[in-house]
Amino acid sequence: MLKTIKSSELEVGMYVTLPSSWLHHSFLKNSFIIKSPDDVKRIIDNGINEVSIDTARGLSFPNVDIISHAGDEPLREQHQTPVTWNPEQIIPIDLKNALQDKTMPTVKKARIVYQSSVQMMQRLMEDPKAENIREVKKEISEIVEVIISDDQTALQMLSITGHDFYTYTHSVNVGVLGVMLSKSLFKKTNAHDMYELGAGFFLHDLGKTRVDPAIINKRGKLTEDEMKKMRSHPYQSYKILAEANQLSEECRLIALQHHEREDGKGYPRHLRGDEIHLYGRIGCIADVYDALTAARSYKPKLSPFDALRVMKEDMSNHFEKDLFEKFVLLFA
Ligand SMILES: [Fe+2]
Ligand SMILES: [Fe+2]
Repeated sequence: MLKTIKSSELEVGMYVTLPSSWLHHSFLKNSFIIKSPDDVKRIIDNGINEVSIDTARGLSFPNVDIISHAGDEPLREQHQTPVTWNPEQIIPIDLKNALQDKTMPTVKKARIVYQSSVQMMQRLMEDPKAENIREVKKEISEIVEVIISDDQTALQMLSITGHDFYTYTHSVNVGVLGVMLSKSLFKKTNAHDMYELGAGFFLHDLGKTRVDPAIINKRGKLTEDEMKKMRSHPYQSYKILAEANQLSEECRLIALQHHEREDGKGYPRHLRGDEIHLYGRIGCIADVYDALTAARSYKPKLSPFDALRVMKEDMSNHFEKDLFEKFVLLFA
């Protein structure tokens, strides 16, 4: 849907069409995604006071009430700006190098592994075909290896988790948090395949790639129908992994069940208590914590302390008590 707005009202993530031809301004194209505040400044500097935006292709104009979904997966996210990359190289070379370098200082290694993992997830979500999922899963095993064998780098990664609004950053955060919690729960046993588990946490929201971007990007309240489509993403994640023949059935449940709640008020199946697989419960805690600590267009981010407090005081019936206490200990 096209809307006319003032240039000063433009925001990063909006798909804009300038009123005059490219001959009359300094942009290469007439229609494009706003990638930074600099783009807005340039439009204004070119003397363009009004533009039209296409809300089906980018972020909408905030003209409706904004609701918070604290404690639930954020239902709307801003436009994910595509990056240019060679489709042959879904795994960033920096990630491969950092994972193999045994002499790299901890802080540097944690930063590079974290940032390039985010990049890898972004590439995967732009083209989530089976071959790419396979490649990414192999690399996730290497990341998991670092998290379970190198406490220093793992803790460092936990402390630098970014908190923006992108699904791929969120995927890496849930990946790191999920593996950390699994590590503390399962360290005395080898009955759990940590590599498969790690893949489940990193890939839990892959199904969002099958939800209409106009719904993902919408900033106002979702209609009932849109909410239904948004809430199909756990099943879609599960289906993508099953179709690609990736992950064990148990680890695919992380994707399917990460929005189920202890009290049966989650989705898609309203499972309660023990009906939710332990892996799904771990996914849920990591997912909610990251949602609360991330800044969204409709809410400020909470500090780790406040997020844990909200989870304990206001959301205690979302999680299994013992599991939540183990999660809190990760930050002790
Ligand atoms: Fe989700
Ligand atoms: Fe999520």
